[in-house]
Amino acid sequence: MKLDGKTILVTAAGQGIGRAAAIAFAAAGGRVVATDVNAAALEALAADAGVETAFMNVLDDGSVAEVVGKVGPVDVLFNCAGVVHGGTILDVQDKDVDFAYDLNVKSMIRTIRAVLPGMLAKGDGSIVNMSSVASSVKGVPNRFIYGTTKAAVIGLTKAVAADYVAKGIRCNAICPGTVDSPSLHDRLRAQGDYEAARAAFIARQPIGRIGTPEEIADLVVYLATATYTTGAVHVIDGGWVN
Ligand SMILES: NC(=O)c1ccc[n+]([C@@H]2O[C@H](COP(=O)([O-])OP(=O)(O)OC[C@H]3O[C@@H](n4cnc5c(N)ncnc54)[C@H](O)[C@@H]3O)[C@@H](O)[C@H]2O)c1
Repeated sequence: MKLDGKTILVTAAGQGIGRAAAIAFAAAGGRVVATDVNAAALEALAADAGVETAFMNVLDDGSVAEVVGKVGPVDVLFNCAGVVHGGTILDVQDKDVDFAYDLNVKSMIRTIRAVLPGMLAKGDGSIVNMSSVASSVKGVPNRFIYGTTKAAVIGLTKAVAADYVAKGIRCNAICPGTVDSPSLHDRLRAQGDYEAARAAFIARQPIGRIGTPEEIADLVVYLATATYTTGAVHVIDGGWVN
């Protein structure tokens, strides 16, 4: 197994892509610590996949430090937590901008700071950060703060990759297109006509369908084990930006 003996920390593992990644990492032989703020979702994941779980709020330095302290040295960190905000630059409130930066960007600074000393001590580590096609890769209408913060994730990823490439640490970003997850269904419902909104999302995917969390999870596991890849931005989007 590729990840035998490796400890893998996943944020936002309660549902969607994070959950699928936790299951895929476990199948690849790793010791998975799946974290989230949704305790019920973690309980369900532990029952379904037999992975370790821990409540960890990525908005809180103390929560991150406590979990990483208990887990011990982390070999692979998958920073999956993030929130989608709709709206243009004229629609959004400063408080939404601050919240999106905190959850989409600063959370990754917190977790990377927490695990990096352990990775550096081993001279080995892999970090995978969740960005999106809606970022510096593509301007997407009505996704002002989301695209801005997910572009920041790409900058953060490349900066960390450059600083630590000679010390055995790899850091890559992934940029999914639309992926079937609980929050996607919430966004579709919020648009009023669920079926019309779903059809519009599918129409913008040239491959003719929305991606699955499992398809994204496969890429995350690949990057965790891809020993010649760092600072890369991996688009996985059904041909949306092609
Ligand atoms: N679904 C998509 O179409 C899509 C596309 C591109 C990128 N993404 C990104 O993938 C990531 C996961 O999205 P998803 O749609 O798969 O899942 P989701 O949005 O359905 O679930 C998000 C999870 O994050 C957890 N969470 C929220 N706040 C948290 C916090 N403070 N600390 C820890 N966990 C917290 C929630 O409890 C939930 O389990 C996000 O960063 C999102 O931006 C999603």
